[in-house]
Amino acid sequence: MDAAFWEDAWRSDADSVMVTERVLQGELESLRPGSALDLGCGNGANTLMLDGAGWRVTGVDCSARAIALARQAAQARGLDARFICNDFSQWQADTRFDLVISTYALPGGAAGQRVLRMAAQALAAGGTLLVAEWDRSMSEVWGVAAVEFTTVTALATAVPDLVVEKAELRSIPDMFVDPAHPRDSHGSLARVAFLRARKP
Ligand SMILES: C[S@@+](CC[C@H](N)C(=O)[O-])C[C@H]1O[C@@H](n2cnc3c(N)ncnc32)[C@H](O)[C@@H]1O
Repeated sequence: MDAAFWEDAWRSDADSVMVTERVLQGELESLRPGSALDLGCGNGANTLMLDGAGWRVTGVDCSARAIALARQAAQARGLDARFICNDFSQWQADTRFDLVISTYALPGGAAGQRVLRMAAQALAAGGTLLVAEWDRSMSEVWGVAAVEFTTVTALATAVPDLVVEKAELRSIPDMFVDPAHPRDSHGSLARVAFLRARKP
């Protein structure tokens, strides 16, 4: 999906773009808040969750509408998160981060792996990368081309310079709380490829 697709999605039906995050929960408790980068931050739900938990956060998204929503939400909550409107496949971080996250935002295939290599470069020594993406098996459920999706193996092999701590396929029941979301034949079960990796 290209930038025009996402801009249109955020303008016409912002609710359909939002994901109820169920994978980051449980991964952050072991980390001491520092600087954090959210790649494909959307309306900043996770970025602002991190901000509220004491992280100094930067969110990057290619959709101007999503970034405007994120800035509004930050202002409304009195948070000082930084948001950048840019294509993360072209963007380079000008600093290093203690945490980089990306949830349901990466393109499939080689393009997604290039973004993950950039994410690994953007990590400070000792920093953590957390990635959650729809597993390729969801392509059949949703009738979307498999090339748009990834796999646990593709995530893990994209970051050879990092120490992979978790590379798992997770089945998450009731992921879609919004009835407008497409639901598969198992109700709202989602299969998510999850990666947790650390920079030595
Ligand atoms: C399904 S939304 C997920 C948003 C957020 N990470 C979350 O979990 O709620 C995917 C987001 O990735 C963004 N995105 C997709 N491709 C991008 C790119 N090449 N550069 C920057 N952002 C991108 C879209 O604009 C969209 O906001």
